[in-house]
Formats: sequence, C-alpha cells, structure tokens
Amino acid sequence: MRRAKITIIGAGNVGATTAHWCAAAELGDIVLVDIPATEDMPKGKALDLMESSPVMGFDSNIVGTTDYADTADSDVIVITAGIPRKPGMSRDDLLATNAKIMTAVSEQIKETSPNAVVIVVSNPLDAMVQRCAQVTGFPKERVLGQAGVLDTARYRTFLAMELGVSVEDISALLMGGHGDTMVPLPSCTSVGGIPITQLISKERLDEIVDRARKGGAEIVGLLKTGSAFYAPAAACAQMVEAIVKDKKRVIPCAAYCDEEYGVGGYYVGVPIVLGSGGVEKVVEIDLTEEEKAAFQNSIDAVKGLVSTMAELV
Ligand code: APR
Repeated sequence: MRRAKITIIGAGNVGATTAHWCAAAELGDIVLVDIPATEDMPKGKALDLMESSPVMGFDSNIVGTTDYADTADSDVIVITAGIPRKPGMSRDDLLATNAKIMTAVSEQIKETSPNAVVIVVSNPLDAMVQRCAQVTGFPKERVLGQAGVLDTARYRTFLAMELGVSVEDISALLMGGHGDTMVPLPSCTSVGGIPITQLISKERLDEIVDRARKGGAEIVGLLKTGSAFYAPAAACAQMVEAIVKDKKRVIPCAAYCDEEYGVGGYYVGVPIVLGSGGVEKVVEIDLTEEEKAAFQNSIDAVKGLVSTMAELV
C-alpha cells in the first residue's frame, strides 16, 4: 500500500512543526514547500527532520522544495503560508497580505493536486479558507480550516489546569469563527463524562473561556516575534491523521455551511465528521437562544471579514 502524500505549504514555524508531528506519527511522506526567496531553507528543514528519523524511529520520506511540481498529486495539503501576528496585531490585520498569498498558493495547488483535501491554517482563518475554496474551485467538502481543534485544545488545557486532572479526560466543543467571537458550549463540555457545570462555577468558567478566546494573543504577547506554532501544528496533525486514516473524527473545524445552522454560504467553525473525503458531515446540534445569538454574532464577524477581503483581492 502506498503511503499518503502530505504537502505542507509554508515551511515556517507552523509548517515545519506540522511536518515534525506528521512524520513522528508516520502519517505519510511529506513535501515541505516555501517561496523561492527562501532558497534552500525548506530543503534544510526537511533533511534535518529526516535525519531525526533513525533516532525517533519513524519511516517517512521528507523533502523540501520551492517547486510545486514536487507536490503533484498530494492526498492532503496543509496551507500555512503567510505572515504571522506580532504583538498588538489582531488576526484580521493580516488580511490583505495573506489573501494575496492564499490566492497564489491556491492557484498552484489547483493545477498540481486537483484531488487533494486541503486544510487551511493561515490567518485570518475563516476568510483564508473561503479564499482557498473560491480560487481552487474544489468541492466544498475538500477544503476546510484548522481552528476549532486548536481553540478547543487551549480550552481543554486551561480546564485541566484548573481542575488538576488529565487533559485526556476533558471533552469540549467550541463553535464559530477563529477569533474573539468564538462560541463556547458548556452543555458540550465534560470531564470524564461529568458535565463541566457540576465542577466549575459559571463565573470561573466564563474566565476560562475568555482566556481560551484570547489564547493566541497570549502566546503572541509572550513570544513577541511571531505567533503560536506547537499547538496549531499539533491540531493540523490530528486533522491530517483523521483524513489519511479515514478515522471519522468528530471535531470542530471551519467547514462550509449553507443551510447548516442557517449560515448562508460561509466557512465557520462547526462540529464535523472528518474522514478520507474531508468534511463528511456537518453535525447540527440544538443551541440555546444565548448560544444561537453568540453564534450569529460570530457569523456576522466572518461575513464582515469576507466582504473586506473581496475589496482587497
Ligand atoms: N508560498 C509558500 N510559502 C509562503 C508564501 C507563498 N506564497 N508566502 C509566504 N510563505 C512562507 C514564508 O516564507 C514563511 O516561511 O510562509 C512561512 C510562514 O512561516 P512563519 O513566518 O514562521 O509563520 P507561522 O508562524 O508559521 O504562521 C503561518 O499560520 O497560524 C497562522 O497566523 C499564522 O498566518 C500565519 C500562518
């Protein structure tokens, strides 16, 4: 059986770390791509990673390149190309630059890997995934965005820290856009099966949700030279695994929703079933009136971003 071919575009912090997690988990052979201006940098990172394989004990062929011909017929493509945030910037401040980069990358992959499932990571995420879908013209289920797994991972980390329990026992769901308007669902959060509302007061839970919402900015503030990459890359690797192993994971991702949740044709964070076909199902759950209002607010923010992007590209 042939190994899956995984292309990661953007060999910076998120891209190279995604390659690392995917290789260590033996998810497939990896192609790490960057722009010609970076010269041999992607080759260097790929070779360095390959040379870790005898020690770490994984079999994966990893190549670095600036030539899209090397990415031909990929099964999965992860797009991390773009600029990251600096302190004081919101994800939306990246819109103009990253929309141009997303357009260029999407034109390339449309030609070279027409059957790939594409995971977009570049920010502002909900607009970037929409742009990738527009330019590639790929079926909507084969283009999705990484946000919910990361946002939920941050939320789960903070809950585990608060309760002094294993992160593995925290199950949670967040919906909406990847930004300050993300929507927590306490009714879908549990600890070893116990509803979170039985373990933490509403006030404390609100504080933890707020920290998760601002989790990206917290890391930017600490790093000062760029944005988070370990947790975003781990989230990407989980999505790649769900696709190459056809796991049918139920996880929150930015997926195209039209009639679903009454979104009306935008990419927004919702629970999906993720398998070899990409988004195999958008899972629709009942929301309370308060949750519906918060989700609508999040959709409105995504719509605003997409319409600003339309004026820029
Ligand atoms: N094609 C391929 N790679 C590109 C392109 C392009 N058109 N334009 C830029 N890149 C590359 C850069 O050369 C750089 O190596 O994308 C890489 C980005 O890496 P970093 O600057 O380290 O940024 P990173 O932290 O990885 O974040 C990338 O992911 O999480 C988001 O907000 C983040 O939008 C940002 C993206």
